[in-house]
Amino acid sequence: MLTETISFYLYSLYCPTKLPVMTLSKIAGIGRYVPENIVTNNDLLKYMDTSDEWIQERTGIKERRYAHRTDETTTTMGVEASRIAIDRAGITVADIDFIIFATLSPDYYFPGCGVLLQRAMKMKEIGALDIRNQCSGFIYALSVADQFIKTGMYKNILVVGAEKHSFGLDFTTRGRNISVIFGDGAGAVVLQPAQEVGQGILSTHLHSDGESAELLAMFNPGTHANHWNDGRVLADFDEAEIGQMFFSHAMVDKAQVFPVMDGPAVFKKAIIKFPEVIMEALKKNGLQTSDIKVLVPHQANLRIAQYVQQQLKLRDDQVYNNIERYGNTTAASIPIALCEAWEEGRVKNGDLVCLAAFGSGFTWGSALIRW
Ligand code: ACO
Repeated sequence: MLTETISFYLYSLYCPTKLPVMTLSKIAGIGRYVPENIVTNNDLLKYMDTSDEWIQERTGIKERRYAHRTDETTTTMGVEASRIAIDRAGITVADIDFIIFATLSPDYYFPGCGVLLQRAMKMKEIGALDIRNQCSGFIYALSVADQFIKTGMYKNILVVGAEKHSFGLDFTTRGRNISVIFGDGAGAVVLQPAQEVGQGILSTHLHSDGESAELLAMFNPGTHANHWNDGRVLADFDEAEIGQMFFSHAMVDKAQVFPVMDGPAVFKKAIIKFPEVIMEALKKNGLQTSDIKVLVPHQANLRIAQYVQQQLKLRDDQVYNNIERYGNTTAASIPIALCEAWEEGRVKNGDLVCLAAFGSGFTWGSALIRW
């Protein structure tokens, strides 16, 4: 600390008039893509014992979109959203110098969607990073991109959040507490150095609590070998001398290849961590809830968003929700909602925008942006 203070003092003597002002990063372009296929709550009655009333009452969801089974993937949806974001940023694909792709439903187990997008968009041999932070994925991705812009390492970073949940949910009554929630889609932004002082991402705040990792998870395929199971069987393995543990016939036969969630436990934690991380962002910047023009919470459940709104005493016009039309699109939910809010004119130059997310991990985070 003493060394830093001395260096700062010496620097000010050497360069008294022009102390460096940190360049912030701004969202220069934003795009979204949702598949055409609308699936209503009533459509799900074909597969499981549920009801439109239950789903709407507990989650606020009326319908969601499902990608085309074979023609659309998480990456192709990400590409569609990216083209719009790049176009709106007023640049070309050739200008992008780094890709960050957040998803929990990648096209391949490896390599990640980042390189598939780089190939599909015929980009230069730029770096491509995949982020696996589920519902907080987009905030984590944005935060990483923000650091790269601030240090001057990159000038145009493409940040994508995309999901194709419909590929692997348990569409039986057994999986109804999860499968009714999720939808498919993609959102993307281009991050650039801000030109105006005070404009851009003011701060990002990231957190995790691995104690609850198994409360919302998809265990298989994986390398866990029941190591983390606490006496619970996460997977059954085939009899074999070697291998056969990553993916087994038994896993499929016993329906162990679907996501699992303790909904009430996730709900209880979410309603604490959302307000906490939003207040952390405001406090860090000396701002108050009344300064927020729009809060775009991860669209996990309308009841969670409403609870957070009530806790923070925000007016209806200060919170943007679209879960009723798309369900929970996980890493894509914030960029899709932010894009819609911007398209509707609810986010304008100079407005204070707060993004916040909570999800599997648990991980959570926020980003405060002066648009
Ligand atoms: N249709 C009808 N009944 C259902 C359905 C359904 N789709 N799903 C569950 N039920 C039943 C249950 O079987 C249970 O019946 P029982 O009382 O006879 O046993 C009853 O409804 C209540 O079940 P709960 O799970 O207690 O329902 P809850 O009110 O908690 O709502 C929900 C469930 C909507 C999942 C809620 O807990 C929730 O939203 N949790 C948070 C989800 C979330 O935020 N996830 C994080 C993001 S996702 C990510 O990170 C990948």
